[in-house]
Amino acid sequence: MRRFAPFLLISALSPSAFSAPPTFNRDIAPILYRHCTACHRPGEVAPFPLLTHRDAAKRARLIASVTQARIMPPWKAEPGHGDFAGERRLTPVEIERIQKWARAGAPEGDPQHRLPLPAFPDGWQLGQPDEVLTMASAVQLPPDGPDQFRCLVLPRNAVSDIFVRGVEFRPGNRRLVHHALVFLDSSGTARKLAAGSQDGSYACFGGPGFRPAGMLAGWAPGATPVLDPPDWAQAIPEGTDVVLQVHYHPTGKRELDQSSLGLTYSTPPTKGRAAITLFNRRIDILPGDPHYVVRASVVVPRDVELFGIAPHAHYLATQMKVDAHLPDGTITPLIWIRDWDFNWQGQYRYKQPLHLPKGTRLALEYVYDNSKNNPHNSADPPVRVTWGEETRNEMAVAFLGVVLPSIADVPSFRREMRLQYLDSLLPTGFSPDDLPTGVQPAAVKGPGGKSTPRTRTVSK
Ligand code: HEC
Repeated sequence: MRRFAPFLLISALSPSAFSAPPTFNRDIAPILYRHCTACHRPGEVAPFPLLTHRDAAKRARLIASVTQARIMPPWKAEPGHGDFAGERRLTPVEIERIQKWARAGAPEGDPQHRLPLPAFPDGWQLGQPDEVLTMASAVQLPPDGPDQFRCLVLPRNAVSDIFVRGVEFRPGNRRLVHHALVFLDSSGTARKLAAGSQDGSYACFGGPGFRPAGMLAGWAPGATPVLDPPDWAQAIPEGTDVVLQVHYHPTGKRELDQSSLGLTYSTPPTKGRAAITLFNRRIDILPGDPHYVVRASVVVPRDVELFGIAPHAHYLATQMKVDAHLPDGTITPLIWIRDWDFNWQGQYRYKQPLHLPKGTRLALEYVYDNSKNNPHNSADPPVRVTWGEETRNEMAVAFLGVVLPSIADVPSFRREMRLQYLDSLLPTGFSPDDLPTGVQPAAVKGPGGKSTPRTRTVSK
């Protein structure tokens, strides 16, 4: 027995032997209030609140497992591949603390350590907007069934050209709205589609059903809206419709949603704002193929500042990677998503815009799993999948928001991008009309197209 004494002594002296297990009041509540309750509180998108000890204790093991697997908080971008604003990520120490607390039986701890419940800002996060656009009537959602993707035109109050530096989406019914994208339509198509529908909203899944003249903003639960520098404000030209695409997740009850959009006006921009769309529409995935790779690349025709990125695919994609190959040979990773989930598609904004010199090659590589082992595969048995906007189709797109030194640079930048898009389409036998929605019409139609600055926001 004597032989073991030193070991006993050592373990008895180690801090973990003395330290009491973490408690909810002292150790866990601060983590939940900081990283979880933005969504896990009454009336928000998450299915249950995580505010009190009772809320958390009865799910302690589930919380421990989803935080360890990094499923929660939802944040898809891998660290080290793009330094993004508003990153939601627990530290290894926080994850370990939750594990220990759950293992110890989820103790509440000393009531003296209890924190006040967190306060949440009510109202517009960017301050009172200059203009508020609200859905003309509420969208009616069935109690259950598949998720709904609805598009509608927001009525405008002003009819003149405006510039905006802040766009804040406010869901009318937060339990229901899973994500939203805000497009500009200068073709009148969305209006026609909406007029033919019962409640003014029409079904739309992978895109809004028209080729957007720009994208104003994106929203997902927990997103923080940002004010752009007035230098690169976005234009909403007269006669352009603002179109919302909303992803609704049925709640089990018949529900209504009437969401709105707050616009913060700006003086006219001095810098050019443009988008680079990386895409490859040669997608043909055979049923059962567990690892189908799609690549695409473009060369940046002049120096740009990259401020945001939004990768897009449907349900079969598993991995997404976009890298910048700089002319000096360095490779800058722009984003890497290792377990893509269509329900958590983010619009990622860099903490600091990245300088990409002329000649930088942007390379996209996405992987798809069309086997029955992919839990997101909606077809059983799997079927052949090709490019398209419908649920049964796939896409391989990344939208990159860039700033050019002056507005005068935008037309030539677009022209050069357009030539590359055409080059990539020609060998495939596709026409420019096959460009993915999201590619600026001016970029497709050429100098005859409308020459308003490309107005995509990638916010998060
Ligand atoms: C951005 C919003 C958001 C944040 C932040 C968030 N959650 Fe969630 N959570 C959800 C939603 C929505 C669901 C429902 C499942 C889904 O849609 O992915 C969910 C589901 C869960 C579940 C149930 C998982 C299951 O398999 O049933 C747990 C447990 C959970 N969250 C814990 C947490 C914890 C712990 C945190 C913080 C560390 C957190 N969540 C942060 C939105 C969020």
